[in-house]
Amino acid sequence: MSNGVNVSSGPRNWWRNAVIYQVYPRSFADANGDGTGDLAGVRSRLPYLARLGVDALWFTPWYRSPQNDGGYDVADYRDIDPVLGTVEDAEALIAEALEMGIRTIVDIVPNHVSSEHEWFAEALAAAPGDPARDRFWFRDGRGESGELPPTEWTSSFSGPAWSRLDDGQWYLHLFAPEQPDLNWSHPDVVAEHEAVLRFWYDRGVAGVRIDSASMLVKDPDLPEVGDHEPGGHPHNDRDGVHDIYRRWRKIADSYAQPRVLVGEVWLPEADRFARYLRDDEMHMAFNFDFMTRGWDAETLRESIETTLATHRDVGAPPTWVLSNHDITRPVTRYGRRDSSFSFETKRFGTPTDLERGARRARAAALLTAALPGVLYVYQGDELGLPEVEDLPAEVREDPMHHRSGGVDPGRDGCRVPLPWTSGGKAFGFGGPPWLPQPADWGRYAVESQLADPDSTLSLYRRVIGLRRELRDADFAWIPTDPQVLAFRRGEDLTCVVNFGDAPAALPDHAEALIASARLEDGRLPGDAAVWLRTRPSHQ
Ligand code: GLC
Repeated sequence: MSNGVNVSSGPRNWWRNAVIYQVYPRSFADANGDGTGDLAGVRSRLPYLARLGVDALWFTPWYRSPQNDGGYDVADYRDIDPVLGTVEDAEALIAEALEMGIRTIVDIVPNHVSSEHEWFAEALAAAPGDPARDRFWFRDGRGESGELPPTEWTSSFSGPAWSRLDDGQWYLHLFAPEQPDLNWSHPDVVAEHEAVLRFWYDRGVAGVRIDSASMLVKDPDLPEVGDHEPGGHPHNDRDGVHDIYRRWRKIADSYAQPRVLVGEVWLPEADRFARYLRDDEMHMAFNFDFMTRGWDAETLRESIETTLATHRDVGAPPTWVLSNHDITRPVTRYGRRDSSFSFETKRFGTPTDLERGARRARAAALLTAALPGVLYVYQGDELGLPEVEDLPAEVREDPMHHRSGGVDPGRDGCRVPLPWTSGGKAFGFGGPPWLPQPADWGRYAVESQLADPDSTLSLYRRVIGLRRELRDADFAWIPTDPQVLAFRRGEDLTCVVNFGDAPAALPDHAEALIASARLEDGRLPGDAAVWLRTRPSHQ
């Protein structure tokens, strides 16, 4: 064990312009050939990540877990899931990455634990009314014999948010039944999470991504969800949740190299979202507003404007996210007639034009990389991987799919293991992958793309490199026709994105630095983006 690892002597504000790469460890690289990615696999691919130019890795949960929700059902925070490796492997990975200048962010899932967590086992073994149940939300049901759940609340994974035990009591789970919600008014719950933060900070992680961050605090009276004042929803975005993050911020700030808090905060109201980013709370939160919008100049301009204004008010950097392990891959999504994203409308059989989606996803990469703040890249998006939409029913694992009765395709399609080599076993991933890769995935493989200067991987590598120059350069829109977005970063760089069909004229410039598609007679084709150097570089 290596307590007190120094997270490098780098600048304290490294995160404000960082590129953060999301690793879904089960699907990244499989070193031991069992078909599931592992930490040794990630270690073996660190040179790839260093060459890509990322500043930090965010790992979705790597802890011991029965994997009922891809690891978001944590059984033991102080242990690594045996399928992925050991705590020693994690320590070695953190240290080796750091030597290459890459920091590590781990995922903390404070809203719930796995039903196999020792606290829940204790609660189940105890009788109704026993204090061992107070760390969760156990209640008697409604109806004559308690046969109705305590409330009508629904789970994010379909169906009721309550499950009943043989002894008649019900327990709350806002996600799957295997993910019982914790009671954050219980002192053990508060203390345990603070200890877990220190456990990982002491092992050198640079920060935490906080899962379902707005959902922790519940109204103990358990009212139904109805009309309510801001902050008055019974189980989301309650004002008390901010006290938790203020305490976490103090812990993060107590380290010589302060740790960073990143929130998964799904809230439609920009002002409620911004409250999580006040200067004594989180450092940043995922910009889902931008991520879920369709490929359209006006709607994206509006999101960018709101994002910049909201973050300016609280002094936090905006984040730009095109996808993650929950979201349809951009190549597939942007090829659809309605290219916005929502969990509610995701259905099988929605047509897509992958060629068009790929063009747009490349343009979106240039757009997001040019915007001020933090860029998140989900593994495989740098390869332009499409969503795998035709996975056979029997291999799908996601509870979102299964609990919807098979109506919702679920999230397995964006979690298929990465192709590393253009041929060979599992395209260089390792053993036979836990989710099968499509037969044509060799064309997306890292190996194939490295050899091609026009590949999406080459585009990502170059733009991540160029982005370093931008740092805190100011942002200003440049007036254009409605199908085009154009803005300046500082004096030197202009980014232009054409959402229309017809090629667009470019503003005056000295040089085109990088383009997502070949310019046509000096004009930018539709569904493409370009970075222009506005002044000759010798000035
Ligand atoms: C977050 C995670 C998602 C998980 C859910 C429950 O939304 O991103 O993958 O299923 O929380 O933990």
